[in-house]
Amino acid sequence: MSGNLAAILVRVFSGGRCSTSAVVWSLVGCLIMLHLYSLARQKDGVRGELHLGMSHHPQFRELEAVEEENIQMPPPRKRSPRAAKRRPKRPTTIIDEFLDENSQLRNMFFPDHKTAIDPMKDAGNDSSYYHPGRIWLDTDGNPIQAHGGGILFDQKSKTYYWYGEYKDGPTYHAHKKGAARVDIIGVGCYSSKDLWTWKNEGIVLAAEETKETHDLYKSNVLERPKVIYNDKTGKFVMWMHIDDSNYTKASVGVAVSDYPTGPFDYLYSKRPHDFESRDMTIFKDDDGVAYLIYSSDDNSELHVGPLTADYLDVSNVMRRILVGQHREAPALFKHQGTYYMITSGCTGWAPNEALAHAADSIMGPWETMGNPCVGGNKMFRLTTFFAQSTFVVPVPGFPGSYIFMADRWNPADLRDSRYVWLPLIVGGPADQPLDYNFGFPLWSRVSIYWHRKWKLPQGWSGLK
Ligand code: GAL
Repeated sequence: MSGNLAAILVRVFSGGRCSTSAVVWSLVGCLIMLHLYSLARQKDGVRGELHLGMSHHPQFRELEAVEEENIQMPPPRKRSPRAAKRRPKRPTTIIDEFLDENSQLRNMFFPDHKTAIDPMKDAGNDSSYYHPGRIWLDTDGNPIQAHGGGILFDQKSKTYYWYGEYKDGPTYHAHKKGAARVDIIGVGCYSSKDLWTWKNEGIVLAAEETKETHDLYKSNVLERPKVIYNDKTGKFVMWMHIDDSNYTKASVGVAVSDYPTGPFDYLYSKRPHDFESRDMTIFKDDDGVAYLIYSSDDNSELHVGPLTADYLDVSNVMRRILVGQHREAPALFKHQGTYYMITSGCTGWAPNEALAHAADSIMGPWETMGNPCVGGNKMFRLTTFFAQSTFVVPVPGFPGSYIFMADRWNPADLRDSRYVWLPLIVGGPADQPLDYNFGFPLWSRVSIYWHRKWKLPQGWSGLK
C-alpha cells in the first residue's frame, strides 16, 4: 500500500505539468482512501471475529482456525433473604466464577488430575498435544513447577530448558490485604528436546533457609526468573524479580552458572537505574546485546535498557516506554527486524486483557496494537484465556510462528496454577490504527489462537 502511494507521488511530482492544487488534491485523495481502507479493516475491533489466516507456513494454517467456546453460566446461588437485603446483588461475572474456589465451573478452568497430560503415558493419539489449563506432568509423573517461566535453548546440547517459580508449597496471606503467596522454594528447571516431554532437572537456585536478611529468604518473593547464555563469558545468567512480602523492595536479582542445569550462584539484587522494578523479563538480541524490560513507577510504565556485555548488570542507558499504560508481565520476541511484546494489565493474580505492542527499535518508541487473542469467546479474549503472559518461544524452522506461554494463576492454591501454551503467529496487517500513521497499519498483526487442544505441526520434530 505505502509502495503504491510512493509510486503515485513520484509520478505526480516528476510530471512537472501538474499544478500545485492537483498535487495537493491527489495527496488528500490518497490519504482518504488509506484511511477508509484501515477503517474497513477495524470492523468491530474484537479480533475473534476477524480471521486473516496469515501464517507464511501452510503447516500452521490449521492452527489459525478460530475455535469458539460456549460457556453456560451456572444458575445464581441461593442467598438468605437477610443477606440479599444487606448487600444488593451484583450479577456474577465469569471472572468471579474463575476466582471462586467453590464455583461449579471450577473444573473447566482447573481440570482435575484425571485429565493430566502425561507424556510418558499419552504416547498414542494424544502424543505431543498441548491442553491449555490441564495439569502437565514431568517425566517422573509430577506436575511441572515452572510458573512465571521462560525458556532457553542451549545450542551445545540442542536442548530446551524451562525455568520458572517452583511453587509447590502452601498458599497463605502474609498480610490481611496482601496478595496470596507461597514461600520461596527456588527456581525449577526442566529439560526437553521436543517442548512437550519435560524432565525435572531440580531446583537450580534454592531459597535461603536460615539467613533472614538474604534476598532469597523464604518469606521474600522470587518471581519470573529468565535465563540467557552469554557467548563471550560462556556463562548462563539468570535475572528475576526480587521483592519482600509487601512488594516494596521492587528489585531485580542476578544469578550465574556454568551450566544450564545450575546450580546458579546468586550475586545480588538492585533497583535498576535506581527505579522500582517488579514484573520483568530479559531479551537477548541477534547481535548478542541483551536487555532488561521491567514495570516501574508503580507499574504505570515499562523501562527498557541494555545489560552490560557480561549480562551481570544494567548499563546506565534506559528508556521509558508505554508510559501511563499500566502494563506488566512483558514477553518479547522479534520477527523480521521488528520487536514485538505481549503484556498484561495489572490485576495481581486475576486475569485481564493482553495487549500486543511493536517497535522498530527495542529502545522504543513502542506502539500498542491491540488485543492479540483470537477465538474462545469474548470473555476468553478479555482475560487472555484466563491467563497472563510470561514468555514467547520461537518455533525453529518456522519464522513468524511462536509458542505463547502464559500462567493461569490459581490464587487459592498457587502451586496448582496451570500453563496455557498457544500458537502465536505474526503475519498480515495489524487491525488497530496507530497514533501517527493516519490510521493505516504499519506493523504485522500478532495473533494468539485459542485451542482446547493443539500440537506443533508436522515438520516440527523437535530438534534437528
Ligand atoms: C501479578 C504479577 C505476578 C505476581 C502477582 C502477585 O501482577 O504479574 O508475577 O507478582 O501479581 O499478586
